[in-house]
Amino acid sequence: MNGWINLTYLIAATLFIVAFKYLAHPRTAVKGNLLGALGMAIAIGAALFEKPITERFASGGPINYTLIFAGIAVGTVIGAIMALKVQMTAMPQMVGLLNGFGGAASLLVGGAELHQSLAQGHAIAPFGQTIIATALSGLIGAVTFWGSFIAFAKLQEIKGFDKPWSFNGQQPLNALLASVTVALCIWQAAVPESVAAYWLIVLVASVLGVLLTVPIGGADMPVVICLLNSYSGLAAAATGFVIDNNCLIISGSLVGASGIILSQIMCKAMNRSLVNVLFGVGAGGGPKVAAGDVYAKVKGASAEEIAILFDSARKVVIVPGYGLAVAQAQHAVRDLANLLQARGCEVLYAIHPVAGRMPGHMNVLLAEANVPYDQMKEMDEINPQFAETDVAVVIGANDVVNPLARTDPKSPIAGMPILNVDQARTVVIIKRSLSPGFAGIPNPLFAADNALMYYGDGKKAIMELMTAVKEL
Ligand code: TAP
Repeated sequence: MNGWINLTYLIAATLFIVAFKYLAHPRTAVKGNLLGALGMAIAIGAALFEKPITERFASGGPINYTLIFAGIAVGTVIGAIMALKVQMTAMPQMVGLLNGFGGAASLLVGGAELHQSLAQGHAIAPFGQTIIATALSGLIGAVTFWGSFIAFAKLQEIKGFDKPWSFNGQQPLNALLASVTVALCIWQAAVPESVAAYWLIVLVASVLGVLLTVPIGGADMPVVICLLNSYSGLAAAATGFVIDNNCLIISGSLVGASGIILSQIMCKAMNRSLVNVLFGVGAGGGPKVAAGDVYAKVKGASAEEIAILFDSARKVVIVPGYGLAVAQAQHAVRDLANLLQARGCEVLYAIHPVAGRMPGHMNVLLAEANVPYDQMKEMDEINPQFAETDVAVVIGANDVVNPLARTDPKSPIAGMPILNVDQARTVVIIKRSLSPGFAGIPNPLFAADNALMYYGDGKKAIMELMTAVKEL
């Protein structure tokens, strides 16, 4: 029987790997998602018949399939409602929360397995694979759950969590807590029957998860989310060793490895230090400049004035940001681009790696509006082209075009590469007000000599500009 189960797990694992391949491109991402879900359904089905599980439950009583299917039904309904109801702009929070639940599930399975083994009088070998994996499930699972919970609160911009928070001595305290968890893990491994050690690991790791995430903000948030995703995979892999489930080990390792690779790619693209994010060292403490001083010279423009600029432009670069997603302006933006292209203007889209609130956010939105992929340019490719751009249209973007990243070493986005829109002949910035972006800092670009503000909701503003261009 277990031979068939392992073969089924192999099929599920292969589907996960193929799903990753498809997920790497917006055009094939939906197929990738479906293949991953199919792999997971197959893996869950096989897990229900796996021999160690049936054996283990048989010695403690019959498997309660009613309870298992009731759990699956409740989870399916909650998951489906969440997926259908969630706004596109709230997807990152939801992903953060789901990572956290993965961590919580790992620590609960690890704990339940320990309790059950002891209740059934099974001897657990000190410093053996099972007890070390159990301790790691508790440790990584708790850090993942609480870290993800704080990341969720930050992304949801819940009051009190919307700014990075740190205090004197936080780093030494983190180091102390990390040492205590290592000591507790050694205690657990040496004395496997000590249930208290397990729950103490969970308690101290929970505090560590909170303290490692609260100081993070601004340009470090995308990295911390990738990292927590990786942790949830590592926790699942550890739990796979606890319950001897090959598929959980494989899928957990895949998530752990891909998450850490993505974190590294993010760090490189964003000029952040992975070590700093790992150890909860936030970026700069805040702005040195006051919004009042920065915005003294801001100029607005009418739709007609901007239409005249478009009329004489030969090259326009559209720079989307989080506000594009909020306004759901992707179709309107594509219509404006089509209109300008029909008048002989070259139009490109500049994609910053962390524009929006999740990796690939802008690519997904623009792909949904059927913007051709060859018009979407990554930061390295588009930045040298701004100097020859007549009009850069910044729509709902703020931090990713903020020159303070270059000039203020104390800012939360210090050192982050930005889109060099300020080098274009004219920059038109479409947003509803002078409110800051995610990092919470003023943006001197809005007051630059070549910048014009056009205030309004992104979609409405683009439609007004299109009308003005047509009426010229
Ligand atoms: P932000 O800096 O967050 O700025 C978005 C701007 O959109 C705001 O200033 C807001 O100004 C405007 N806006 C909101 N709703 C709008 C609407 N309906 N119409 C027009 N404008 C609207 O966005 P960004 O430039 O894309 O930068 C992303 C930030 O998020 C970075 O700091 C990044 O580190 C962080 N982050 C990114 C990720 C990933 S992986 N992408 C994950 C977590 C955090 P008004 O209110 O004045 O309109």
